[in-house]
Amino acid sequence: MAEMVDHKMKGRIVALMIMVLISQVLSASLHGCFTAPGQGQLRKRSAVHPTAVNAFGSSVFLPVSGNVYPLGYYSVTLRIGNPPKPFELDIDTGSDLTWVQCDAPCTGCTLPPDRLYKPAKKNFLACKDPICAALHSPKSHHCENPNEKCSFQVDYADHGSVLGFVVSDYFPLLLVNGSGLNPLLAFGCANRLQNGGPHPPPTTAGVLGLGKSKASISSQLSGLGLTQNVVGHCLSGQGGFLFLGADFVPESRMTWTLQNSSDKHYSSGPAELLFRGKPTGVNDLNVIFDTGSTYTYLTSKVYQTVLDRVRKDLSGKLQVVKDKALPICWKGTRPFESVQDVRHYFNTFSLRFTGARDIQLQLPPEAYLIVTEQGNVCLGILNGTEVGLGSSNVIGDISLQDKLVIYDNENLRIGWAVADCTCQLSGF
Ligand SMILES: *[C@@H]1O[C@H](CO)[C@@H](O)[C@H](O)[C@H]1NC(C)=O
Ligand SMILES: *[C@@H]1O[C@H](CO)[C@@H](O)[C@H](O)[C@H]1NC(C)=O
Ligand SMILES: *[C@@H]1O[C@H](CO)[C@@H](O)[C@H](O)[C@H]1NC(C)=O
Repeated sequence: MAEMVDHKMKGRIVALMIMVLISQVLSASLHGCFTAPGQGQLRKRSAVHPTAVNAFGSSVFLPVSGNVYPLGYYSVTLRIGNPPKPFELDIDTGSDLTWVQCDAPCTGCTLPPDRLYKPAKKNFLACKDPICAALHSPKSHHCENPNEKCSFQVDYADHGSVLGFVVSDYFPLLLVNGSGLNPLLAFGCANRLQNGGPHPPPTTAGVLGLGKSKASISSQLSGLGLTQNVVGHCLSGQGGFLFLGADFVPESRMTWTLQNSSDKHYSSGPAELLFRGKPTGVNDLNVIFDTGSTYTYLTSKVYQTVLDRVRKDLSGKLQVVKDKALPICWKGTRPFESVQDVRHYFNTFSLRFTGARDIQLQLPPEAYLIVTEQGNVCLGILNGTEVGLGSSNVIGDISLQDKLVIYDNENLRIGWAVADCTCQLSGF
């Protein structure tokens, strides 16, 4: 009896010590992410917690590698299967289904055969599975036989399509409280990669779909009661981090805007384009937050406005030059080394969200320019009408850098805070 009590007490003390240790590690390292340390306490139980998953530490934290230029994407490495194999996945808040190159067999795969995912019969999902239904909008063709294999196709705005079958397998993951998880998650086994359009697909093993439908990894983890349906990323010129769950939401530092719930993407609006803090006459923008896009795409008219403002600022200071990196570039008298060398020639744009509250997403020169290997400076904002994006404005990686961006699907909001994304979660 006494022994049992003693044992329990020890167990509790150890657990408490671990919790204290973890929260110190977390708050210490996340404090390092913000410019003015000491403010903005990490909230262990932030306002983001209306549902059942409440234990502090029930988030997944993943280091991100990549950059906007020259690589063009950001990725995480996840292990899949039993025994697990590692896959480098392009993180994409603009699509739902995670997929990996897959030997079923494959046409168009870029990975060597031994690095492909190899499905077994038992992995294939049937058409009647709710995840399969979530992938096929009611209008699009759905399978006739509910026991048929569930197939999928993802079309990307500027790099072709990916086709295959939906499968499910184990994803070993570590929660920040130290607990290991091994959930069965549904994803795409992609065995037909079709390269269309001007930009080839990334060279990763696949894509991590972080969108808001039931099929996304974040929704599946939350559906299983493992994490809250909150996705956060912090991207810099040298990688960054990604988290799933609500533990790292620095509530007091965040600027929030409402998600547009009638859009299938993470979108927000209406927004107004400002230049040097003043209206440009461009209003009512529908804005999509999409880490799957390297650059920012604006509809033709908005793009034209940006071009006009930038060109007027530069008038004669820099010379137009051709560079294979992007359509619009300039050179100086000497090659530039970084955006820091040119930022004084340019000004800050911002998006003012005019919905519930008047808030802004700042786009300083670093958020819309790159300096290429040739030492030219190029505009990282592109004409979305040219790639068929319709009336959507897509905020890509270039403009999401140096910010902690959070998609809170529990409270249907999107938020951001300026951050140093090179900070890492140490101790794990
Ligand atoms: C970590 O969190 C998960 C999910 O909330 C919970 O099931 C698990 O017991 C926690 N582990 C520890 C060590 O607290
Ligand atoms: C919300 O999304 C819908 C569907 O994409 C779109 O038609 C509408 O314009 C968006 N609303 C705002 C305010 O951006
Ligand atoms: C954007 O692309 C469309 C379609 O190709 C084109 O008609 C339009 O002129 C372009 N806009 C600008 C500002 O270049």
